[in-house]
Amino acid sequence: MANIVIIGTQWGDEGKGKIVDLLAERADLVVRFQGGNNAGHTMVVDGEQLISHLVPSGILQGKICMIGNGVVVDPAVLIEEMDYLSGKGVPCGPQQLMVSERAQVIMPYHQAIDLAREVKKGKDKIGTTGRGIGPTYEDKAMRRGFRFVDLINAVDFKTRLTGIVEEVNFYLEQFLGAEPVDADAIAEAYMAYAQRLAPHVTDVSAAIHEAMRDGRQVLFEGAQGTHLDIDHGTYPFVTSSNTVSGNACCGAGVGPKDISGVIGIVKAYTTRVGAGPFPSELFDGTGDYLQSKGDEFGATTGRRRRCGWLDMVILNNAVRLNSLTGLAITKLDVLGGLDEIKICTAYELKGETIQTFPACLNRLGECRPIYETLPGWKEDISSVRSYDQMPQNVKNYLKRIEILTGVPIRIISVGPQRDQTIVLEHPFE
Ligand code: GDP
Ligand code: IMO
Ligand code: MG
Repeated sequence: MANIVIIGTQWGDEGKGKIVDLLAERADLVVRFQGGNNAGHTMVVDGEQLISHLVPSGILQGKICMIGNGVVVDPAVLIEEMDYLSGKGVPCGPQQLMVSERAQVIMPYHQAIDLAREVKKGKDKIGTTGRGIGPTYEDKAMRRGFRFVDLINAVDFKTRLTGIVEEVNFYLEQFLGAEPVDADAIAEAYMAYAQRLAPHVTDVSAAIHEAMRDGRQVLFEGAQGTHLDIDHGTYPFVTSSNTVSGNACCGAGVGPKDISGVIGIVKAYTTRVGAGPFPSELFDGTGDYLQSKGDEFGATTGRRRRCGWLDMVILNNAVRLNSLTGLAITKLDVLGGLDEIKICTAYELKGETIQTFPACLNRLGECRPIYETLPGWKEDISSVRSYDQMPQNVKNYLKRIEILTGVPIRIISVGPQRDQTIVLEHPFE
């Protein structure tokens, strides 16, 4: 029996959705543990694409999917996704999809604050997804959030809501210059959501433990990436939750001994959406090549993703922060056609060579990548299905990643489809 955590090692969009969907075949439960509908996880099955923002990426494999206490949930988005999936014939009932009673609820004022703050910040904005994620986590830490259990046992919901809306509207109107929200309208809409979702709301931690006790295998699905982590990322250009593997425990309600492996998803190059430092970013034709060949547009906001070379400083940071036991290299096909491929192995900072990731953004901004250059390959590898058939230069690139990280590559992805994958060692074996 194994319980595996999947996390992004870079700045998100590494291909977690594809790998979770693939590995879910051998899992019994798939559990989201942090973030919210800022995530956009793409699955492609029989040529059809599905982008999931909240529903765990195990749903298309017919697995039991759970949304843990650490997730912030917009009920309207969840219902929309459930309806969409049901319309496609994917079972989404209370037996398939469960939501933690302790998960925090995203309210309309959270999104209004998120959006208005970004406008007010102007050029200094973080480039959030505008989904209200940050303000919802703020209210959680401030201890005035609504959990699903608070919505469903609606005893003092309206009274509490009215008090919060009074305060929030003052901030929205007086400070942010935005439109106020209406407590009555929110109460009406949210009571309807509560009624609809009540059968799905349960003690997810207890349900996971029960499944584990019965010998079931759990796949924990991370969102965002290690360098968007609120503690370990490029603060303040980060998301508002811990994205590292350790948070699978807090955000799902399990202990560290319940985790048997952590697979870090590594895009074969690096991308980032939104603002913030990115030392190996490319501003030349190669960056454009990766962006266009990799179709690098955000799955949630449609924004163009910034592109650059693979960065070992950040990758090794992810190895350490997440206790990675294996790597899944994705989008390797996108690198095909380049004469040479670079790997950033260290940074140069004021004449010194460093291999650690500076906490200070000014220092990070001054870091210049030091590259190692490897020969590229011209072959289209998207139809290669075994490691042995890979061109030698592809093997050299992969070997170099293993040597520089000290972590074995378990999975190689050469296209968005399920079968465009080479599984060297299955994490559930
Ligand atoms: P996530 O947020 O980590 O789940 O990643 P996204 O879904 O936001 O972005 C990854 C994109 O790359 C999606 O459009 C996937 O369909 C696509 N993708 C995943 N793996 C591969 C791959 O190996 N090759 C190519 N070309 N595309 C891939
Ligand atoms: P997945 O799970 C890439 C980025 C936003 C912004 C910052 C803060 O698909 O990999 P937020 O709305 O969370 O307050 O925005 O984080 N961001 C992501 N970037 N992939 C994601 O999710 C992201 N979720 C948030 O672009 O820079
Ligand atoms: Mg994504």
